[in-house]
Amino acid sequence: MRLQGKCAIVTGAGSGFGRAMALTFAAEGAKVFAVDRDEAAAQQVTAEINDNNGQQAQSFCCDVTNAAKVKEMVASCISGLGGLDIMVNNAGYTHASQPIDQVTEDDYDRVMNVNLKSIYHSTLEVVPHFRKQGGGVILNTASTAGLRPRPGMSWYNASKGAVITLTKSMGVELAADKIRANCVCPVAANTPMLGDFIGDRSKNTEEVRAAMGADIPLGRLTESQDVANAALYLVSDEAEFITGVALEIDGGRCIS
Ligand SMILES: NC(=O)c1ccc[n+]([C@@H]2O[C@H](COP(=O)([O-])OP(=O)(O)OC[C@H]3O[C@@H](n4cnc5c(N)ncnc54)[C@H](O)[C@@H]3O)[C@@H](O)[C@H]2O)c1
Repeated sequence: MRLQGKCAIVTGAGSGFGRAMALTFAAEGAKVFAVDRDEAAAQQVTAEINDNNGQQAQSFCCDVTNAAKVKEMVASCISGLGGLDIMVNNAGYTHASQPIDQVTEDDYDRVMNVNLKSIYHSTLEVVPHFRKQGGGVILNTASTAGLRPRPGMSWYNASKGAVITLTKSMGVELAADKIRANCVCPVAANTPMLGDFIGDRSKNTEEVRAAMGADIPLGRLTESQDVANAALYLVSDEAEFITGVALEIDGGRCIS
């Protein structure tokens, strides 16, 4: 059990990578606080975890762009689970793939608020708590978009580039407090977001996904479990000397 005795918040836990992280962390002994703005989805993953003998989770409905709700999220996790050791900022949003000058201001704001400002909100709550208890772990979900930007995705790319820089900055600034911060950078995965990366949800077909996968050196798209496996390592004590890292989970995409 690699996370025995740990308490973890996972945002965006109702779907995709966050769901896989929540299930994987719980299977490795963590008590999981499954957060999503989709209440039913958060409740569903929580029920799935609690149905597994000995595993524990609580769900919390929260829009991570809402500072007051994020404050409540952290306090509720600490009182509900009995602590907080791991903060996973995973919830994300993208504008559809389109020319750089056609993304609306509303969509720009939503991309930046969900992908970046949400980490500001959670950091203000978790860092004082981690300092008080002598340490903690932050994991952010960035993307290969922040390392190898593709056309049509510029504002999303920028938001993930900022998450990568922020993670490195957190690593160096918070190390003295024994707080580690890392991020994962997955390449495209077949989650509900993929249709927006393609630009038109109706074009998210098996054929298109196969062509996208064939373009990746290891020959396929990311699976949510790939991300959960890497996340598990980064948040566990096995990675106690790893901070400020942006780990590509991309089958070699960023080197080709
Ligand atoms: N799918 C990909 O190809 C891909 C690739 C690289 C990085 N990412 C990143 O991975 C993360 C997870 O994406 P995914 O593919 O699992 O997506 P997903 O759509 O499967 O899941 C995202 C979850 O986040 C929740 N969410 C969205 N906005 C929220 C908000 N404001 N507050 C609380 N919850 C919110 C959604 O309800 C959903 O359950 C995102 O940060 C995304 O940018 C995705």
